[in-house]
Formats: sequence, structure tokens, C-alpha cells
Amino acid sequence: MTWHATALTLFPEMFPGSLGLSLAGRALREGRWRLDTVQIRDFAVDKHRTVDDTPCGGGAGMVLRPDVVDAACEAALAQGPGRPLVYLTPRGRLLDQALVRELATGPGAVLVCGRYEGLDQRVIEARGMREVSVGDYVLSGGEPAALLMLDACVRLLPGVMGGVDSAEEESFSASEAPLLEYPHYTKPAEWLGRTVPEVLLSGHHAAVARWRREQAEAATRERRPDLWARREPQRIAAAGLAS
Ligand code: ADE
Repeated sequence: MTWHATALTLFPEMFPGSLGLSLAGRALREGRWRLDTVQIRDFAVDKHRTVDDTPCGGGAGMVLRPDVVDAACEAALAQGPGRPLVYLTPRGRLLDQALVRELATGPGAVLVCGRYEGLDQRVIEARGMREVSVGDYVLSGGEPAALLMLDACVRLLPGVMGGVDSAEEESFSASEAPLLEYPHYTKPAEWLGRTVPEVLLSGHHAAVARWRREQAEAATRERRPDLWARREPQRIAAAGLAS
């Protein structure tokens, strides 16, 4: 079965956006994945096509009505049942490679994109939506977050990343406590007085592997102490098993 994404949105024109270009776009045209949109406004119940209302209890902004969003969810699931509903919100669990992998290996996803102050809590609960955030910052809507999530999922689908096995080596691959990637270099060997590290030109594969490992560890320690700290218990456990 083709991996199937449906974006539930007030701005369907935002899809596939930049995902229509590059490898993901080619894969989409080749039918390696499918993308649909559902216009939330099509499920409004009044003649003004109202989708939102003022927050109960007062305060700024508007809240998307649960009945309208629920009907839109129903329509999305009719196109492909059994898919998880993912609501993009800064209140959600942080997106990481483990969740990307889980979604990419499933049947697809319905991506619910909020605007304004967000969705009425009751439809989130009634539909069992998984709330997902793409980072600790606030976007003007869920659409760019959905596109970002789609990009991360689609590149893992079979046949999308043209035979590249760098997926294995790169940051955040198999391990739950990954290392950041080592730095990359290509020709020319000297550019603006900056040289490619000698070892990478040596042809000594073991030395290259060792250097890359050291660089990856140093980068992780310095830039992402949170990831590095998650590694420590693993390293200690591994050392204990080895002795
Ligand atoms: N909508 C607005 N901000 C968001 C974020 N950081 N992640 C996911 N959805 C969002």
C-alpha cells in the first residue's frame, strides 16, 4: 500500500509546497507516496462558512470548532482509514527520528493543521489525535510543521532517497541516543586557504573512520550536551557487558 498523507487545513494551497520539488516531489509523481488535502472550511455548517469561534472563558484569538474539525477528520479518514491523526501544535510531544520512523513505517497520517489559538480540546480527545510539536517556537499555523514532518517521513520511504545508504550513517539513525554527524568535505583540497583534513585524503579507511567517530563525539558533547548525557548510561552499560 502507498504511504498516504492527508493534510487537514484552511490553506490547502500550501501543499505540497516545496515538497513538490526535489526527491520528495519526484517520488510523489512516481506514486511512491500520496498526498491529499481536506479544506476544513468545506465542513462549516452555516452560510458564512464559519470554522472558528471565540474562546470560552474569554481571551485573545479564535478557536476552531470541534464539530467542523470532526467532520473534516471523518472525510479525511474516508479517503484512507486506519491512519493516525496527528495534530501539529507547540503543546505536543517533540518530533524526533523515532516518531518519524514510526509514522513512515505505518500506512501514512492525517495531519491536522491549526490556525489561530488552535483546536477545541474535545475534538483532540474524541479523535484520539497525537499532538506533535516540531520545536520550542511558535509558528503561525500547523502547515509548515506538517510539511517538515512529511519531509522527514517521505525520505525514509522505499525508493525515495535514490539508493543512498547514508540514512544508516547519519545523525539520528538507529540509536535512541544518536551522535551528530561528523563534518563533510569535498574538492578542492584547498579553498580560500582552508584545507581538507589530511586524514581524509590519506586513503586509510580505519583512520578515516576513527577521525569521523571522534569528530561526531566532540560535536555532540559540545553542541548537544542533552544528547551526550543520554549516551553516557548506554556507554557505561556497553562497557560493563564487554568486561
Ligand atoms: N503550530 C504552531 N507552532 C507549532 C510548532 N512549534 N510545532 C507544531 N505545530 C505548530
